[in-house]
Amino acid sequence: MVKICCLGAGYVGGPTMAVIASKCPKIEVVVVDISVSRIAAWNSDQLPIYEPGLEDVVKSCRGKNLFFSTNIEKHISDSDIIFVSVNTPTKTRGLGAGKAADLTYWESAARMIADVSKTDKIVVEKSTVPVKTAEAIEKILTYNRKGIKFHILSNPEFLAEGTAVQDLLKPDRVLIGGRETLEGRRAVQTLKEVYAHWVPEDQIITTNLWSAELSKLAANAFLAQRISSMNAISALCEATGANILEVAHAVGKDSRIGPKFLNSSVGFGGSCFQKDILNLIYICECNGLFEVANYWKQVIKINDYQKSRFVNRVVSSMFNTVCGKKIAVLGFAFKKDTGDTQETPAIDVCNGLLRDKANISIYDPQVTEDQIRRELSMIKSDWGYQGSLQPKSPTSVKQVNVVWDAYEATKSAHGICIVTEWDEFKKLDFERIYTDMQKPAFVFDGRNILDLEKLRKIGFIVYSIGKPLDPWVKNMPTMV
Ligand code: NAI
Repeated sequence: MVKICCLGAGYVGGPTMAVIASKCPKIEVVVVDISVSRIAAWNSDQLPIYEPGLEDVVKSCRGKNLFFSTNIEKHISDSDIIFVSVNTPTKTRGLGAGKAADLTYWESAARMIADVSKTDKIVVEKSTVPVKTAEAIEKILTYNRKGIKFHILSNPEFLAEGTAVQDLLKPDRVLIGGRETLEGRRAVQTLKEVYAHWVPEDQIITTNLWSAELSKLAANAFLAQRISSMNAISALCEATGANILEVAHAVGKDSRIGPKFLNSSVGFGGSCFQKDILNLIYICECNGLFEVANYWKQVIKINDYQKSRFVNRVVSSMFNTVCGKKIAVLGFAFKKDTGDTQETPAIDVCNGLLRDKANISIYDPQVTEDQIRRELSMIKSDWGYQGSLQPKSPTSVKQVNVVWDAYEATKSAHGICIVTEWDEFKKLDFERIYTDMQKPAFVFDGRNILDLEKLRKIGFIVYSIGKPLDPWVKNMPTMV
């Protein structure tokens, strides 16, 4: 039986390998990482990432056929299939800064594989990479090989954070791209047999390398575009009195469109959508396809617009100033059921409110104070969308309070912003919250999860993305 090693014990490497190990008890799976603390966490009771169901899967096979280790060289050398699931962030400096994928981690992983391998290997691109990365990796491996054969496959991961385990157990499809040679096809077959332990064969798609690489970027661009499309329509709903939920329902009934992923919100976040679209834009520009690049740029522009539109609504509704007012921010993770805060819209919402000198009180059930403060201490640099590590002024840090209870966050507040759609926010006692707030009391629902009629009856002035506006909100002139 094959032995598997995975480089990178992150949001993708950890859950993916845990599911492979649980479904293939005869295959030994070792996940390695350069981060000692991450590996220690995977070996402990407190896993480094929060995903529903993940703990049970890990516990069922850890120490049996699933191992987490920092001994990267040994496990690369021992395995037949090496997944590379290292991070591929946007470049922050130099050529392509703010757009191109930074392949530093990938290249060093490839060099390490070339250095320590003593037998033939199948190297699987699990990270999301620019089209033609496999070719570059192949070059690094073949220039450094010592008579060893490396077969490169592209096997992009389509899991979504928050539902990673379910997505891995029942994937819509598994995509494997390989060279169209006899040996390439054999390598594809070997990987296919691993997934075939639990994924029906007709859901395992095989393509050439470049199609697989591009499909992942295209899929993320389509998903993000769907959100930006709904968000663009949400602005029009507010202007016309239409209701985004009714529009989404009617639009989604068209079987060509489908009902999923049509929620309008304060904007998309997460480590992937923006990074992958920027990467797609860069590839288009490098190929002289400027019109195509501009088309995809608009998806990110609408996302930024939606975040600033939300902040503008908050400020303008509250007499055009939030200076010195307490605003409760409920939710900081980029979506529910994850503790991930990379590119979360909460960062822009909080920064927008801080610029207007609000005092913000943040509560998220899964995000620590340290993490929130780290995210808010980054300043966006001029050239693009990626944060740079310049510390902010101490004053703005003082305006931020992080608490461990929604009632504490909302106590004496002037307004509440719902930024993440955590289920527990739907069940809050808003009568109690209203009693403890300053009046008039405002709720700004950036996720459309609350019962507005109930809130209005209690006495709140409410704003919910894309829903017909309260007269109060409508009468406050705003820049949208
Ligand atoms: P992550 O940042 O959570 O994990 C990457 C891990 O790789 C880190 O723990 C890092 O220490 C480790 N690493 C870096 N260089 C290494 C090396 N040379 N050897 C061993 N370990 C090394 O990243 P995440 O979220 O798991 O993403 C990985 C890739 O998967 C990215 O390309 C991402 O775009 C893609 N992806 C991410 C998804 C997500 O929801 N997070 C979904 C689908 C794809």
